[in-house]
Amino acid sequence: MAKPRVFITRIIAQEALGKIARATEMEVWPEELPPPYEVLLEKARDAEGLLTLVTDKVDVGLMEAAPKLRIISNMAVGYDNINIAEATKRHIVVGYTPGVLTEATADLAFALLMAAARRVVEADNYTRKEQWKTWGPMILLGQDIHHATLGIIGLGRIGAELAKRAKGFNMKVLYYDEIRRSEEEERQLGVEYVSELAKLLSSADFISIHVPLLPQTHHLIGAAEFAMMKPTAVFINTSRGPIVDQEALYEALKSGQIFAAAIDVTEVEPISPDDPLLALDNVIITPHIASASFTTRKNMALMAAENLLAGLHGETPPNCVNPEALSG
Ligand code: DGY
Repeated sequence: MAKPRVFITRIIAQEALGKIARATEMEVWPEELPPPYEVLLEKARDAEGLLTLVTDKVDVGLMEAAPKLRIISNMAVGYDNINIAEATKRHIVVGYTPGVLTEATADLAFALLMAAARRVVEADNYTRKEQWKTWGPMILLGQDIHHATLGIIGLGRIGAELAKRAKGFNMKVLYYDEIRRSEEEERQLGVEYVSELAKLLSSADFISIHVPLLPQTHHLIGAAEFAMMKPTAVFINTSRGPIVDQEALYEALKSGQIFAAAIDVTEVEPISPDDPLLALDNVIITPHIASASFTTRKNMALMAAENLLAGLHGETPPNCVNPEALSG
């Protein structure tokens, strides 16, 4: 029997590619940059399975062009790059990779928090630019992390891991979420629920975003929200760029309305070299690397491979966004 055809939009961990290669007729896009949309359309034409990344837009047009498609396995916990409703309508299951990147993402969020508070990147540049002339009592002062208040927006898996890290620094942790955790969970995590976003924004020293990108979270943080923050506040975003109004972030940083920011995601990725944010010293911008550790990326690839193969067998992938696609 002919093996199912699959297209993989980038080179991923060999362990995962090996598994897929044994069970399918696999083609892997070999370039560093994602396949252009027209190429993806062409490759999807005969494919029964796609393994995609956050950089690949899987919309109605693509699904329309891929009549044999049964599974889209996205190697990411977020799936805002895929039109899920359309996939479900077409009985295409969508896989994703929750859990395996939770701690790596929380690690990076905390690393960014610390780096922005203590001006680590700016200080490194200061040294390299030969500005370090002496130990100066007023040079490169930052914000204390220990005993400060962290406000987490979205206490899901990643937000909860961030809370655990903050506890090691004796921070007070507030959270705001649509869904409140049980009292027992709040006690175990040592977090305090705040029923209004405005209250969290005005009382936290550090604010970190951990919500998915949805129509209702687009520009969740804009000019009005930055205006509520303390002038000493440090703002962190490792979720999705469009959750924050980037122009408003720029204004808040430039005017000193907030102290600093550190973001791993931008409204358009990659950020344009002309973006005014790049001219500011009080922002750190990393290129969407929250899950980028060797082990985490391998585990994401293996999970995506497992989801892909299950979908090709007509089964519900172990980590599936839309199991209902197979019913009816
Ligand atoms: C995710 O998993 O959603 C990340 O943003 C991409 O690795």
